[in-house]
Amino acid sequence: MSQNIIESTVAFVKEKLEGAEAGHDWFHIERVWKLSKKIAQNETCNLEVVELAALLHDIADPKFHNGDEELAIKISREFLESQNADTPIIDQVLFIIKNISFKNRNEIAENPPIELQIVQDADRLDAIGAIGIARTFNFGGFKNNLMYHPEIEPKLNQTKEEYKKSNGTTINHFYEKLLLLKDLMNTETGKKLAEDRHNFMLSFLKQFYHEWNVD
Ligand code: ADP
Ligand code: NI
Repeated sequence: MSQNIIESTVAFVKEKLEGAEAGHDWFHIERVWKLSKKIAQNETCNLEVVELAALLHDIADPKFHNGDEELAIKISREFLESQNADTPIIDQVLFIIKNISFKNRNEIAENPPIELQIVQDADRLDAIGAIGIARTFNFGGFKNNLMYHPEIEPKLNQTKEEYKKSNGTTINHFYEKLLLLKDLMNTETGKKLAEDRHNFMLSFLKQFYHEWNVD
């Protein structure tokens, strides 16, 4: 693998994400990159594809770009072509960027490539545990959402109606997404690493309600 292309991608991503919301900034990318490499050690995969996809996966998140789903693909394709990456590598990296998101989880083809499974696990691990909690409250603050509303009982597997009623509180995001991630991990390493992080969120929620209710 050419070390050069990884280095130039790091520089490109750091520059692009200058000033990004703290949950989706260069440091999120760096953690996902490191986690991806750690998971990849236990899998047979193309490491160059894994690393490039980890580095580029949030280069233009639709949430921060008026819902534009195509922008990240366009930017990544242009960048990788400018670096003379091989076409099959480019295609695999773009496939991962397109399919990694939690909200598109039902659309992924059966038997997703191992490289997608690895980067998706890494991205999901960074969404749970202590870091996941911090990122979630940071995002909620960024959006000026309520942390919690005592009259709305958050629950797992909510319908669209229930979600609307949840008012998008940050605590609701745990039930809407974060607490589901442990069971969606693809790799054995991912599953193992998710355990601790999941349990930490459960203790956090318990303590949160305890303090909120002053009981
Ligand atoms: P994905 O990239 O897997 O589709 P998102 O970008 O929606 O996932 O979420 C990434 C992280 O952003 C979440 O794990 C969470 O920390 C934060 N986030 C996204 N939506 C919300 C929300 N409605 N409330 C609080 N945090 C959120
Ligand atoms: Ni991400």
